[in-house]
Amino acid sequence: MMGTGKIPDGAMNLAAAEANVAPEATFKTSSAADRAEGRVLAIHPGTTSTKFGFFCVREDFTRNVQRRLPCSTDFDVAPHGPCKCMLLLMRKNSKRLHRISSPEPVPSSRVTRRDFIKTTSLAAGALAFGVPALLRGQNLNSKLNIACIGALGGKGRSDTDACARAGENIVALCDVDAGSEGYETQTKKYPDAKFYKDFRQMLDEIGNQIDGVTVSTPDHLHAIVTSAAMQMHKPVYCQKPLTQTIYEARYLRKMAKDKKIVTQMGNQGSAADGLRRGVETIQDGLIGQVHQIHVWTNRPVWPQGMDRPQGEDPIPATLDWDKWIGPAAMRPYKGRRDPKDQYGIYIPFNWRGWQDFGTGALGDMACHTVNLPFRALNLGYPTEIEATPLSKMNKESYPVGAKIRYEFPQRKASISVADPHLFHHHRTIEQDAATLWWYDGGQPDATAPDGHDFSNKPPVELTADIVALRGDIPNSGSLLIGEGGTVFSPDDYGTSFFVKLKDDTKYIHYTKHPALEKYPERIPRNPNGKDTNFAHTKEWLTAIRENTPDLCYSRFEIASRLTEIMLLGCVALRAGQKIEWDGAKMVAKNCPEAAPFIKRENRAGWVLS
Ligand SMILES: NC(=O)c1ccc[n+]([C@@H]2O[C@H](COP(=O)([O-])OP(=O)(O)OC[C@H]3O[C@@H](n4cnc5c(N)ncnc54)[C@H](O)[C@@H]3O)[C@@H](O)[C@H]2O)c1
Repeated sequence: MMGTGKIPDGAMNLAAAEANVAPEATFKTSSAADRAEGRVLAIHPGTTSTKFGFFCVREDFTRNVQRRLPCSTDFDVAPHGPCKCMLLLMRKNSKRLHRISSPEPVPSSRVTRRDFIKTTSLAAGALAFGVPALLRGQNLNSKLNIACIGALGGKGRSDTDACARAGENIVALCDVDAGSEGYETQTKKYPDAKFYKDFRQMLDEIGNQIDGVTVSTPDHLHAIVTSAAMQMHKPVYCQKPLTQTIYEARYLRKMAKDKKIVTQMGNQGSAADGLRRGVETIQDGLIGQVHQIHVWTNRPVWPQGMDRPQGEDPIPATLDWDKWIGPAAMRPYKGRRDPKDQYGIYIPFNWRGWQDFGTGALGDMACHTVNLPFRALNLGYPTEIEATPLSKMNKESYPVGAKIRYEFPQRKASISVADPHLFHHHRTIEQDAATLWWYDGGQPDATAPDGHDFSNKPPVELTADIVALRGDIPNSGSLLIGEGGTVFSPDDYGTSFFVKLKDDTKYIHYTKHPALEKYPERIPRNPNGKDTNFAHTKEWLTAIRENTPDLCYSRFEIASRLTEIMLLGCVALRAGQKIEWDGAKMVAKNCPEAAPFIKRENRAGWVLS
């Protein structure tokens, strides 16, 4: 039943501007019952156009609408009566639009979109704290305001540059180290960006102007910084591993879900066509049931297996050491600023090897290299994790090499049978119990620059076909052994793979293997090009504009689960014994000593928001 109502000015102006109708037009709205159920509230006369149409829908309904309708990346938000409404700009009419009776057309006022954007009161009026860009009057062509935290480190620079390359505004750079090599280059490159040393001060001061936050700090700070941004409803792109502890991963997962925030973890291999092809074909049965998974990396390529150094060095004047330490226990600064000595004891980069700050080789790489098997095999909570360090464990750093065994129980998973953005079609698959073996580093070798001999790889009898294919075993890779064949991925990110089915004599690249032809492409591809780092970031930026958290292939809902698996290996290494894991309860059943590694005790003043 349709009633008559009035769309508020700002929203109506936008609609009018787009569809060339009088801004004072009266819109028909649905009944109170429709509103309560989240059905369409109002339809603009523009729906009769072959090119554009408008909807006004309840905010909590937009995800459904966007799944069913091919809508563009542009929409705006306006309050409407007792509930929030959204105006969606449609690329084209759809059957669904036709089914809803449209109000009478009204005369055109020829208001241009540009005029509207300049003059709308929405844009000026909605700068409230925590309000998303859309409510601030952003539109299809507006730039998003991005603030980058940990902006001057290696990855921080790349995350900042990816957002800038996508055409967004870099409004703030936040980093505790104004003496780092990145300070000069990045502050010159982004002269309009305000520089902050304290992310909390940044969020307090300009939070209301920020549309998205990138987090590229060392691992121990990820959750603290990310949760502070999410508490303000900011979309976050956080580097991998999502967090340093399992408790934090779960905390961020819940927060993202409860607040419906657009999130992405920075395991950029997720953007690759090859990875998505691997996931869909393995899930659809390419190599049958998989019982064994082997994943390896050449990391660590930074110091591990060391004790804490004695003494103390002067803290560089440009570095805020207290904020760098963040939630970890305070310790003396060690290191020196020497351009020839690229990496210090802790900063930059070498924090990875320290238990208080990093997650070792496993944490650094598993979110990339385990990504393909994790998704393809729907690996959830393991039940048992056993770690064998290749050098003596201490309480300070990770070992120079480690072999870790994970047991995964039988699993059921619901997988899409068509583009999940268009349909709600899923089917359930059942996957057998499987063992995952992780290998990093190698045997200790004091004469080697990285302290180990890179020898830690899957058993030779499993890799003979790989050697036949390419003459060697790559530095990093994964091998999935199924009842009907094997899949081998030769890189850090699982972005490409080879297939050897039972009747094949050798590995064949997935793009050339005839067996793949029968498997439909059913996981949407990232349309943003071959540079995965850029494409992955751009996916997040698009999701912010469209307010579609599910568009992000590595949203926290998924990324937190991958991170948890990886972190359990770190827990097993630190606990020094096999872990029997109760995933639902988040406890090591047989090992209460593991508790501090599952949930860290933070230094005073450093809490999750
Ligand atoms: N996706 C990838 O391929 C990839 C590659 C490299 C690194 N990473 C990830 O990126 C993150 C950063 O790694 P990196 O190699 O750039 O390290 P880095 O040491 O070079 O940079 C970290 C930066 O964070 C800054 N920082 C520290 N504490 C801060 C705080 N409280 N507030 C603001 N800034 C702070 C540091 O000063 C430094 O500039 C890590 O999580 C790492 O795992 C991802």
